[in-house]
Amino acid sequence: MNINGTQYRAIWQDGNVIQFIDQRKLPYSFEIFTARTVDDVAFAIKEMVVRGAPAIGAAAAYGMALGEKEAQKSADILRSSRPTAYDLFYAIEYMVHAISHRENAFVAASTYVEDIITRCKKIGENGEKLINDNTRILTHCNAGALATVDYGTALAPLRAAHEKNKKIFVLVDETRPRLQGLLTAWELYQENIPHALIADNAAGYFMKNKEIDLVIVGADRIAKNGDFANKIGTYEKAVLAKENDIPFYIAAPVSTFDPKLKDGSQIVIEERGRKELTEIKGTTIMPDWISVKNPAFDVTPQKYVTGYITESGIRKKWL
Ligand code: MRU
Repeated sequence: MNINGTQYRAIWQDGNVIQFIDQRKLPYSFEIFTARTVDDVAFAIKEMVVRGAPAIGAAAAYGMALGEKEAQKSADILRSSRPTAYDLFYAIEYMVHAISHRENAFVAASTYVEDIITRCKKIGENGEKLINDNTRILTHCNAGALATVDYGTALAPLRAAHEKNKKIFVLVDETRPRLQGLLTAWELYQENIPHALIADNAAGYFMKNKEIDLVIVGADRIAKNGDFANKIGTYEKAVLAKENDIPFYIAAPVSTFDPKLKDGSQIVIEERGRKELTEIKGTTIMPDWISVKNPAFDVTPQKYVTGYITESGIRKKWL
């Protein structure tokens, strides 16, 4: 991704350490978080230094390389970092297999990461065909380069359309409470892609006023029947899109697909801490007595999905 004229990835290997763009600090300051151990990587995932399903998977692959001497223990540490995004578990299994077959762990991790980036580029090429000149697109959360190491899933088709000089406009959901929409807006700003940030509860207004032509979001885990988990608030956008006859697409690589799950009811939803709602940038905005519920994801049933943009093409049904 292009940041102030320099190409960066969200994560990269630097000798025997792994470097992360610290996404907790963006866009106000550009800081690098260095992971030297598998515990550092687990911390980075849990605390959302790195976030977004494919990027979490890539972090786990590198984490396994750092902790390869005790592969099973490292796998357990990483598995307990966040529960919902399937890429994490997919990447751990990939690395456990590679290490048990005596492959060089850093080479295996790097192969994993390059493969994810290639898949995201293909998602971009495939999804770009859905976008015409003057298409106005809504996206939720951040499914860009930050969330996937490079390029993105939901943002990949937008990048590809922009590269082909198609005029597009992106409406970006703010995505409370962690404001991943700000990361999306920042990525679009870096790429000179026209966009505007909207409050999470404004999407219905824009849909009803016919100011949105297409919705594209990423996914954290997709079940066999096509139900999928994504950032909290995705479900209501999908229902609104159907009500307003707006096509609603998921963009995701195969690493997000959990073949063990029959449907979305089996997806474990991460519950995050109260401070994400009671504080903004360290300032308390709620009284102490307030009680909070903070699910980080929701599940959208397949019936709301117009299609799945994958590295192998666009499918109407997931399977
Ligand atoms: O809690 P986060 O920021 O890790 O959640 C990220 C999302 O929900 C993304 O939409 C999803 O991982 C797809 S990223 C390509």
